[in-house]
Amino acid sequence: MNNMDKIVSLAKRRGFVFPSSEIYGGFGGFWDFGPLGVALKNNIKELWWQEFVEKRDDVFGLDASIIMNPRIWEASGHTGSGFADPLRECTGCHRRFRSEDLNENKCPVCGEKLDKEKKFNILVKTFIGPVEDETALTYLRGETAQAIFVNFDNIQDTFHPKLPFGIAQIGKAFRNEITPGKFIFRSREFEQMELEYFIYPESDEEQFIYWKEFCLDFLSKLGLKRKNLRYYDHPKEKLAHYSKGTTDIEYQFPFGWSEIWGIARRSDFDLKQHSRYSGKALNYKDADGGNILTPYVIEPSVGVDRLLFSLMSDAYREDGKRTVLGLSPRLSPYKAAVFPLVSNKEQLVSKAREIYLEIKKELPAVFDDRGNIGKRYYSQDEIGTPWCITIDYDTLEDETVTVRDRDTAVQERVKYRKLADYLKKQLQS
Ligand code: GAP
Repeated sequence: MNNMDKIVSLAKRRGFVFPSSEIYGGFGGFWDFGPLGVALKNNIKELWWQEFVEKRDDVFGLDASIIMNPRIWEASGHTGSGFADPLRECTGCHRRFRSEDLNENKCPVCGEKLDKEKKFNILVKTFIGPVEDETALTYLRGETAQAIFVNFDNIQDTFHPKLPFGIAQIGKAFRNEITPGKFIFRSREFEQMELEYFIYPESDEEQFIYWKEFCLDFLSKLGLKRKNLRYYDHPKEKLAHYSKGTTDIEYQFPFGWSEIWGIARRSDFDLKQHSRYSGKALNYKDADGGNILTPYVIEPSVGVDRLLFSLMSDAYREDGKRTVLGLSPRLSPYKAAVFPLVSNKEQLVSKAREIYLEIKKELPAVFDDRGNIGKRYYSQDEIGTPWCITIDYDTLEDETVTVRDRDTAVQERVKYRKLADYLKKQLQS
């Protein structure tokens, strides 16, 4: 098995990620997150929210609706050819393919001739209202960003921020990707964490550099190895329709270097478009009321699912007989696992449960008394639990437990009354 297959297998076997609708044969490009996947995702989102919103005075949070007025997507350019995949359609079976996935000039499925390359829009359509006709047509959002632009005035009117300031949002986005794949790397339903940072036009270059570094630092804080990260500057001819310049942060996935984070200079494109289409001028007025301008925007945009995949890849290692998911403890689904040394000694089991319930009040923890202790350690290593706590006969005498570290396998004895504080201190270090 290569590393990609090993990670996909671990994700399924241990309850991180399941293929969607599996008992019906699956549904391409959709995934379900199991108990450990949800926990890992929540931890990623929480850390992003802390760094990008809570710790700052200049960023405001938002949670907007997924379905919005369809005019928004016309204004943003998403219903046009800007948000489209260049594809070739088979003249026989009408299946569509990306040119780079084709080896010859005929349909890989039915062998018929392929049409010339055309652009196919990837917004997901839906209908709102009692009649399913063109007037009821709208879209599931293709990015969270547009909801931020259309709320620009609401944030100004309620919080009166001074430039530069940002609006941030975490939420689902949907794209009818023609070639979803590479596990959760490219899906049709995914989550984005986006910041639109509004700036004075003249500080565009300086802010762009600042946010590129800020995002890279954040990835290092999450524990991604620097050697597996790099910047990639988009060539001018490949820029998205809204962009005056974009740098991606790429990660070295098991299948090669690919984008996890796009940092784009969106200029005043979006605010101007929405002003034009809505008839409501989206401007910024300096505090003294003198200077009215349309701010420029720097947009760092990252996918939660893709980031989760990179974190699992980066953390995965085989160490002799054991497989270790060396996640940063702050990301680990469980911070501690609690075991009685053996499962057939009532006194040990009940003491272990008592200690487990105490720890669980403070931190996400799990109890395990199945199989032998060695197997339990390995089982926790594989899902990234940083500390395993064993209750043994000495515990009954001296109120200490062993704490085993996932990465070093070193064991330490700690008074169980101090355990929660001990673990919290380790988490902060
Ligand atoms: N608002 C800008 C925007 O949406 P993007 O480069 O299309 O830009 C930003 O998407 C990020 O969202 C990507 O870097 C990636 O992490 C994530 N993303 C985009 N499409 C995705 C997909 N089909 N599946 C999973 N993640 C995706």
